[in-house]
Amino acid sequence: MRPLGMVNGEIVDINANVVPMEDRGHQFGDGAYEVTRVYNGRCFALKEHMDRMYRSLRELRIPITYTFDELAEFHERLIKESGITEGGIYLQITRGVAPRAHNFPDTVVPRLTMSIRPVGTGAALTAVRENGAKIIFVPDERWLRCDIKSLNLLGNVLGKQKAKEAGCFEAVMIRDGFVTEGTSSNMFIVRDGVLWTHPANNLILKGVTRTFIVEKIAPELGIPVIEKAFTPEFAKGAAEAFLSGTTTEVAPVIAIDDAPVSDGRVGPITRKIQKAYIAMIDAECSR
Ligand SMILES: Cc1ncc(COP(=O)(O)O)c(C=O)c1O
Repeated sequence: MRPLGMVNGEIVDINANVVPMEDRGHQFGDGAYEVTRVYNGRCFALKEHMDRMYRSLRELRIPITYTFDELAEFHERLIKESGITEGGIYLQITRGVAPRAHNFPDTVVPRLTMSIRPVGTGAALTAVRENGAKIIFVPDERWLRCDIKSLNLLGNVLGKQKAKEAGCFEAVMIRDGFVTEGTSSNMFIVRDGVLWTHPANNLILKGVTRTFIVEKIAPELGIPVIEKAFTPEFAKGAAEAFLSGTTTEVAPVIAIDDAPVSDGRVGPITRKIQKAYIAMIDAECSR
């Protein structure tokens, strides 16, 4: 089992020096990415992730040069060659390599890099999913196209570091007095039996996990959902709260800014949603 890299479909050593100096991803963050989880040697929700990748590329006006079948084959080859059965595959496409100038180059070909590593199975993450996470609220300092999964992640990076320094699992961001999302997750709360989450507009990334919860899991469990922004105070008064994400899966939130959410224990609705999500993974990835 070994982490591996890939450039334009060719396998490379994970530590190979493969980024040209004038790759626009390197110089401008001019590109988009996806992260897909591998369970039991199979990709989970690959189609949903690649569809979002195509959307990000269209929004950034980066030409689409790989079909879904090609991208699926690259994912499968990375799994096979690496021998990694429980992991994560990172995929990024940049606008390409050209002399540095802000406007789009006239002739440039998008550049694909990928990597596979074991992720998501560590003891810390497992404990968070089981026992719940502490989070902090921080200002949302990002740009206004958070719906694009672009390489520009400085707001997210600085927020996550604040969480780490506060001894918390995640920083959840506040813009104009409303909760948007976590630095690498979407946020949900439960009040009076209703599940609340921020609408999927330009201010958040429409998480694949979020979509499964809103469109499939909650309806099947008979849990009403409202996609409406809420304030940090409203969240602090919630009966339950949780985060969703590809690596995070469904992680209960038991404290916000050092104060317990409700009685500080994982709530029953969160647990039901968590179980239903794991069942979806098992259904797609078990042999
Ligand atoms: C800012 C942000 N929001 C939400 C998510 C969750 O998205 P998904 O469920 O597709 O992993 C991510 C995932 O990395 C993210 O970076």
